[in-house]
Amino acid sequence: MNLLSFEHYSQIRKSLAQRLPDGLILLKGGSPVVRNGDVEYPFRQQSDFLYLSGFEEPGAWILIDPKNKKDVLFIPKADDHHLVWIGTLPTLEESRKRYGFSKVCYQGDLKSEIQTSLRGYRKIYAPKEAQNELKRLGRRSIFPEDLREALDELRAAKIPGEIELLKVSNRVSGDAHIEVMRQTRPGQYEYQAQAVFESECLKSGLSSLGYPSIVATGKNAAVLHYNKNSEKIKDGDLVLIDAGAEFRGYSADITRTFPANGRFTQKQRDIYSIVLEAQKKSISAARPGALSAELHVLSMRIIAEGLKSLGILKGEVDSLIENGAVRVFYPHGLTHMLGLDVHDVVGGKKRCVPNPTKVPVRFSARLEAGFVITMEPGVYFIRFLLESPKVQEKMKDQINFKAVKNFLDFGGVRIEDDIIINPAGAPLNLTHVPKEIDDIERLCAEGRELAHRKKRF
Ligand code: GLY
Ligand code: MN
Ligand code: MN
Repeated sequence: MNLLSFEHYSQIRKSLAQRLPDGLILLKGGSPVVRNGDVEYPFRQQSDFLYLSGFEEPGAWILIDPKNKKDVLFIPKADDHHLVWIGTLPTLEESRKRYGFSKVCYQGDLKSEIQTSLRGYRKIYAPKEAQNELKRLGRRSIFPEDLREALDELRAAKIPGEIELLKVSNRVSGDAHIEVMRQTRPGQYEYQAQAVFESECLKSGLSSLGYPSIVATGKNAAVLHYNKNSEKIKDGDLVLIDAGAEFRGYSADITRTFPANGRFTQKQRDIYSIVLEAQKKSISAARPGALSAELHVLSMRIIAEGLKSLGILKGEVDSLIENGAVRVFYPHGLTHMLGLDVHDVVGGKKRCVPNPTKVPVRFSARLEAGFVITMEPGVYFIRFLLESPKVQEKMKDQINFKAVKNFLDFGGVRIEDDIIINPAGAPLNLTHVPKEIDDIERLCAEGRELAHRKKRF
């Protein structure tokens, strides 16, 4: 896979310097984290550091000197132990060519470089994690919140280079989802579907996931962040898979729900169609200026109407939304930002807008061109809520608990795509995985046909 040109990262560092022109900016890259014994967790670079440099090794620092238009990358030096046990690290020369900093030094030069560059500055913009090193230099006045705010503001709207990376992670993750639909069968275990997804991503060159894969069949799909992935897939069950790989740190976040045996039952079609309609209508309404909270309410309205038509909810749609009845079946948000973090930064305090709806939402923002967001409505039958005497008493006029009994083992349906808000018109959908009922059934059938042919020849 090609690296982004270093001008991309260099441009981002310039933008940060323009936002914080009156201080020295210092960033600390991630450090390895011990898992147990002599084993470390796989290293993943800290997201802000990746955003500003593309440098993926642990133990690095960045210094930006806005007044002198200078930026320095400090890289770790591979000692003998490292060379024997772990291998080589990028050299000064390689890093100079690859990352486009005005200067590259070894990490050992950090102290003297900071001291030299500090002349002429009263402020240091650095994260809290850098506090110890700066204290040793006798500096205490660091401004972590201002740095955070500047980074959040910058990271929100994605620039073309970032969008290219998000397109790659979405294409690869999407192809892997398609393979899962083709290869999954009743009798397999959830982790085998996970293995198909993750091996397809690896085969395409993406070795790291944006988050732990969720493969939930049957009633497990009603557990929102289920990731035991340990149960046998049963004939007649739905399979919900929420999984995404990352490329240079930029993650996909895709969910599909499909029938394990390749054919939706009528009940499954009914619920699936409601979620699909909510998702498609919310995507169409996602334009610059739209409020994420209002889109969330739009999706709730479609779900409320759908569940009413099935006799599960009763009463006025607006009150079903306001009194929490819809949330029993759809307890999470419609959307979140996506980027270097799967739940990405929301764009800084200035961008947070009051939520004009009566529904609590985690993410209340006015959409802007360049935002990359997910669209992920769902309907779940959460036994714990539906059998709770408290919920039954509170919702007795809104929820038909007799009708709900037929759905207690249903699990749930979520459909999640990743979209880019366009300056004008409909958003661009990055996720190409089929989601129409006929297309999903066709894919499942195709997988069976291919397997059959392989057996014969
Ligand atoms: N995969 C986590 C989420 O959809 O937000
Ligand atoms: Mn998501
Ligand atoms: Mn997801």
